[in-house]
Amino acid sequence: MPTDLSLQLLRVAENAAIACAHTMGKGDRHGSDRVAVEAMRSTLETVPIDGTIVIGEGERDEAPMLFIGEKVGLGATGVPDLPEVDIAVDPLEGTNLCALGEANAIAVLAAASKGGLLHAPDLYMEKLVVGPRAKHAVSLDRPVKDNLRSIAKALDRAVKDLVIMVLDRTRHEKLISEIRAAGARIRLIGDGDLSAGIAAAVDGSGVHAVMGTGGAPEGVLTAAAMRCLGGEIYARLVVSTPEDEARCRKMGIEDFRRIYAASDLASGDSITFAATGVTDGALMKGVRFFGHGTRTSSIVMQRSPHQIRFIDTIHVTDRSDDLRIRF
Ligand code: FBP
Repeated sequence: MPTDLSLQLLRVAENAAIACAHTMGKGDRHGSDRVAVEAMRSTLETVPIDGTIVIGEGERDEAPMLFIGEKVGLGATGVPDLPEVDIAVDPLEGTNLCALGEANAIAVLAAASKGGLLHAPDLYMEKLVVGPRAKHAVSLDRPVKDNLRSIAKALDRAVKDLVIMVLDRTRHEKLISEIRAAGARIRLIGDGDLSAGIAAAVDGSGVHAVMGTGGAPEGVLTAAAMRCLGGEIYARLVVSTPEDEARCRKMGIEDFRRIYAASDLASGDSITFAATGVTDGALMKGVRFFGHGTRTSSIVMQRSPHQIRFIDTIHVTDRSDDLRIRF
């Protein structure tokens, strides 16, 4: 993927975030998602790539736009000789969070050269996400208490001082009681294990790991972020029915018990990742609308050159020069 796509993807994430931020708190999660998808789709159309959605809003028959296999970018409008790029999108991660005006909703996408992102079915996935210092110390097959002890040791702190993010779901009752029994602290989240995973890989975010089962598409996007941040995700698909098995096979997955690491889920050498806050979160502020324009807060990362940028953008909409920009 020779072209530097970082600022192009930034634009795509920003526009999706701005579009759905207008719907914040309106209680219409599908409406919020729809406007994010439309904004992401139309902005992607201006990006100079021959792009293919590999992680998207679902299969063709269940998603009118950004479905798996859809062609995106300028290439889809007939422009020839553009770099072939695989794209993973989640135009609004945390549809409920946006609809309810709660923290941590983000607009996000990642790109890799062709074949650089796993084509994962939209199943659940067991996940364990940690930052760079703990990445060699944990395993999805070890008891929770052992992983917590190893994370604490790697971070040079006591288990009781760890904060573990867990999706607040009944399926996590056992996990939650094991974390509590081990003495670690928990932050239960209503949605958004992708933004939680990004936070776990950044020192000072106040999050030390993410544990539990969430969406596989979010797992692939988390992996792309981990490849840039040096953190790690260990993940295993939850395949429980013959239908699940068939969906995996359709995507070329035969080993249903395989534990994937970030470099398996997002194997590409050149990975670009962009996320923009829709509502306030640990690393990014939400979209703010003011008299003269809109302000967004994003993280944009790439492997080559290896850069992590926190970007604060003011999108000026007022055509007069009567601006008041606050630092
Ligand atoms: P949406 O963006 O589709 O609302 O999903 C958010 C999310 O919470 C993910 O972060 C997580 O991986 C998944 O949903 C969990 O799925 P479920 O809500 O079915 O437990």
